[in-house]
Amino acid sequence: MSGPGRGDAEVAERVDALIAGMTVAEKAAQLTQYFYFGPPSEGNGQAAAVEAALARGQVGSLLFVTDPAEVNRLQRLAVAGSRHGIPVVFGFDVIHGLRTIFPVPIAMAASWDPEAIEDGQAVAAREARAAGIGWAFAPMVDIARDPRWGRIVESAGEDPYLASAVAVAQVRGFQGEGLGSPGRIVAGPKHFAGYGAALGGRDYDEVNLSDSELWNIYLPPFEAAVRAGAGNIMTAYMDLNGIPAAGNRWLVTDVLRDTWGFGGFVVSDAQAVHDLRTHAFAADLTDAGARAVRAGVDMEMALGDPAYAHLPEAVAAGLIDEKVLDASVRRVLTVKARMGLLDDPYVDEENARTVLADPAHRAAARTAAQRSAVLLRNEGGLLPLAAPGSIAVIGPLADSRRDTLGPWVFDFDLDETVTVLQGIRDRASAAVEVGYAPGIRPAHRTFPSMFDMFGGNAPVDPPGFDDAAELARAVSLARACDVAVVVLGEWQNMSGEAASRSSLELPGGQLALLQAVVATGTPVVLLVMNGRPLDLRWAAENVPAILDIWYPGTQGGAAVADLLFGDVAPGGKLPFSWPRTAGQVPVIYSHTVSHDPRHQDRRYWDEASTPLFPFGHGLSYGRFEYRDLTLDRDHIQPGQTVTVSVRVTNTGERPGDEVAQLYLHQRHGSASRPVRELKGFARVTLAAGESRTLTFPLGPAELRYWNAAARDWVIDTTTVDVFAGGDSTAALTTSFTIGS
Ligand code: BGC
Repeated sequence: MSGPGRGDAEVAERVDALIAGMTVAEKAAQLTQYFYFGPPSEGNGQAAAVEAALARGQVGSLLFVTDPAEVNRLQRLAVAGSRHGIPVVFGFDVIHGLRTIFPVPIAMAASWDPEAIEDGQAVAAREARAAGIGWAFAPMVDIARDPRWGRIVESAGEDPYLASAVAVAQVRGFQGEGLGSPGRIVAGPKHFAGYGAALGGRDYDEVNLSDSELWNIYLPPFEAAVRAGAGNIMTAYMDLNGIPAAGNRWLVTDVLRDTWGFGGFVVSDAQAVHDLRTHAFAADLTDAGARAVRAGVDMEMALGDPAYAHLPEAVAAGLIDEKVLDASVRRVLTVKARMGLLDDPYVDEENARTVLADPAHRAAARTAAQRSAVLLRNEGGLLPLAAPGSIAVIGPLADSRRDTLGPWVFDFDLDETVTVLQGIRDRASAAVEVGYAPGIRPAHRTFPSMFDMFGGNAPVDPPGFDDAAELARAVSLARACDVAVVVLGEWQNMSGEAASRSSLELPGGQLALLQAVVATGTPVVLLVMNGRPLDLRWAAENVPAILDIWYPGTQGGAAVADLLFGDVAPGGKLPFSWPRTAGQVPVIYSHTVSHDPRHQDRRYWDEASTPLFPFGHGLSYGRFEYRDLTLDRDHIQPGQTVTVSVRVTNTGERPGDEVAQLYLHQRHGSASRPVRELKGFARVTLAAGESRTLTFPLGPAELRYWNAAARDWVIDTTTVDVFAGGDSTAALTTSFTIGS
């Protein structure tokens, strides 16, 4: 935590003076965060209870308020209610935008473009800050290797190197130069730690991770985010190796604070301190609160009935030393002070209106959506479209504004959201006929989402929908057109929190619709709208062009049209290995090798054990060749750096984007290491015929790994193979040695 806030000494003095005058109950209040579900109408008991707590000075932070006028009203209650006039800090899930919605996080990771990711979160921060929100519960930096887990959509995928780069970019985007930077907010990387490895991909379920997986795979993005200065960390819901994350002192204190030097404050996930009882861990709420504070969890995010309300009892009973409580309060107040909240807790409502409407924000969202799309297949160069006279746009997702935005948005503007259908209509010239047929009705979850309580979140069947007639209409439209653009995937409430699933199939009648359209013989472009990989085995053999557009956000349809018509070239790459079927998961590129490596691809007798598309895969409108893979030296000592160069040429006829990737493999050592690990990447735009030489330094950070036997970081004496290319199957190789 660094940056241009107020002077450290001045802040410390001010905070200590406040703490010196506070009762234990007032300290507990600073450590308590409440959800606030307005509007405060008659009969809204939740809102009334929180307002009463504010008036009694019992609240340190609120979440879920996004209206600047409400921020000011509630803040006035808080300041008046606190004996010391201490304001609350408003936190919110600013995941991929506040009003201007960017592509979902997995999509942003697929851009492999840290600059675009930083720019996106800077826009989100600017909007949030203008609305009075000082803190984002983001980025989610959990590694996700099991796509049954719904929250893979919020992640950067399977790889710790890519995920760390994405985490750093997001922290920078949110926080700018540091806490207190104008127009920026506190970043809260989450969920510490291991949440993505839930048993069976089932959200909230237990996680058991080996020492090696923890240190080499799951912890690095958190460490990177902490080193980038994140001001907050959120703990996870579940048990990690049998200890609930919110009561896990080893995680929150030994690793986070003592090993990495984290200086910000830690918040629990929603109700997770209270739930320490549910885990059969804490005996009662007093015990739960005391154990969370002792573990290092400074603030409790409470749905109601906070365990931290019992902290005074815990102190009186000697379960917590008041000094420990003071340390937590100090961390929270320090952030409030550095954000400038103690001096100016209110927000300019007029300015908020201007900032939220800024057209530059929409332009940035459009660029982000262009850069995040991944061209999975493009047989015969079907894309970009070659001046079709007519286009059939098919599938219910093609014209669904809410689904275009994706999950984890609450304050969006549907009217300004551009669907794929709208984007194509706007872009196609008047001479092009664009027809639309949904073909099928939306699919539904078997069990509703808890997020469906927010209006408009679940899809609604169009009234009077005639299944047979609509399918026939879609097929005849496709038959009558030069090209069919079919948009399929998951409805957004099928992806995200509490949205795990047991299969990866296209829900509802979507595959049948696709097959019927393909059977017409009209060339088909499949656009996949998704937050997780889906079973595309049939499409990958029968549909010439497949573009993964994810949930592309406010400007999604416009960006998709830019890509389809070739105004810009796609250049995203997969941030995960795309499985063929759910039975294969988890499937990762960075596996180790043991017995019978010749049959690595046939570990199942009924299906290939390789992915459908490899990690790092993605095509463009150019074609790329890699040559001249060289090293500045072929031998180093541990601790030294070797620099790799490789020349990338666009040998195609059109400009294109490529993400050059560098993978390492060590041939022998004191542990068995993955066949490949990503250790460098760079996204470039190259004109037809253009070449660029890229360089990648490989130093201790890239060459070390956590050795579970030594229980320490090691750099082995070994030979390291280097691979460079456009995905994780890159063939161009060289090697160097480390050690004597
Ligand atoms: C999620 C968090 C989120 C919090 C507040 C929880 O259920 O796990 O990621 O920040 O709710 O909305």
